[in-house]
Amino acid sequence: CVDIRTLGAKTGLFTYDTGYLSTASCKSKITFIDGDKGELLYRGYPIEQLADHCNFLEVAYLLKNGELPNQQQKGKFEMTIKQHTMVHEQLVKFFQGFRRDAHPMAVMVGVVGALSAFYHDAMNFYDAEHRNISFNRIVAKMPTIVAMAYKYSMGEPFMYPRNDLDYTANFMHMMFGTPCEQYKPNPVLVRALDIIFTLHADHEQNASTSTVRLAGSSGANPFACISAGIACLWGPAHGGANEACLNMLEQIGDVSRVDEFIKRAKDKNDSFKLMGFGHRVYKNFDPRAKLMRKVCGDVLTELGLENDRLFKLALTLEKIALEDEYFIEKKLYPNVDFYSGIVQKALGIPTSMFTCIFALARTVGWMAQWEEMLIDPEYKIGRPRQLYIGAARRNVAPIDQR
Ligand code: ACO
Repeated sequence: CVDIRTLGAKTGLFTYDTGYLSTASCKSKITFIDGDKGELLYRGYPIEQLADHCNFLEVAYLLKNGELPNQQQKGKFEMTIKQHTMVHEQLVKFFQGFRRDAHPMAVMVGVVGALSAFYHDAMNFYDAEHRNISFNRIVAKMPTIVAMAYKYSMGEPFMYPRNDLDYTANFMHMMFGTPCEQYKPNPVLVRALDIIFTLHADHEQNASTSTVRLAGSSGANPFACISAGIACLWGPAHGGANEACLNMLEQIGDVSRVDEFIKRAKDKNDSFKLMGFGHRVYKNFDPRAKLMRKVCGDVLTELGLENDRLFKLALTLEKIALEDEYFIEKKLYPNVDFYSGIVQKALGIPTSMFTCIFALARTVGWMAQWEEMLIDPEYKIGRPRQLYIGAARRNVAPIDQR
């Protein structure tokens, strides 16, 4: 392992590593992934244990503070988050400036970015108290903003947060409740969504987290940085993959057509890829995919949808792909997105909102990583180098000679 900075300073050398396949951009104590083993740890705790024993807010506390909360800390943190769930009344006007058929992720980029115009004290982020309040505000307001984006797209009235409900049940109330009827959360479905949040809470230096860090490295407002992360997450190769995966399953349509699509995925001349398969770091099962498959089964059973067509199709596709030479050789396994679309659809979340749910959960990781960067004594503005391959120096010709 070579310290590139020292090497660069002494010799003027630097690495060319497109896609950052083997370049670490930072040191971090937050999340560890062993891609060969298929292991994911948040602050040292296996994701399976966290999904089993903790709720999402405990995981949020852990990611930010490094330790799980005790009962008292948990209660205090939950109360603090509840105090910040409302959004400024003027923010409602931002929604009204968007077309109703706008993609909710486009709305999220704008509205979350606009929070930076409401909280100027967030700029004093060398003060721990200010970093804490920024974290609490955004973690508390994301469910409200996501639910507002959904309600706006539906032309339905916004639902105010209910502080008698816990974090995830309150989100479901704001998504699915109406002013005419008190929303009664189903504990099995609430728990399922809560686990989905936990599974998406952090994933070390993925594209969107690196974007948040890079934006934050210049000293930008944290809400503007989260907005940058949301923009990056939107792409189909990242957070948009669950939406793309569900669309793909619909396109395949029936178990009888799985072979045809597997063949297409293997064809070099066909741009089709199996969505929800493959990962830059996992060269084994994505542990989140296993947990997601279980959550998916639980939700479908609770709703009496055990024979769901897309779930059966996904199980068949997974089985066939995992036995196929191409997928074995390239170490392509299902990732977290493979089952998450099916389970979210069963929960009543429309496809266009899937990536917003991901953004809601990942905000916790983004903020924890943003803070970790700022308090790192080695922290510097992010400034990648490039390998210039353009024209050599030349002179500008007068316009009549070009
Ligand atoms: N279907 C078919 N072939 C695939 C797939 C796939 N889903 N994924 C990778 N491959 C092939 C590539 O064509 C490539 O083949 P080659 O070696 O012959 O050129 C090889 O496997 C390696 O793939 P890369 O794209 O080079 O791997 P990379 O690490 O750059 O990309 C990625 C990872 C983007 C996730 C990719 O596997 C993919 O596009 N998967 C589908 C989209 C998806 O599910 N994204 C969600 C990722 S998880 C997340 O963001 C939460």
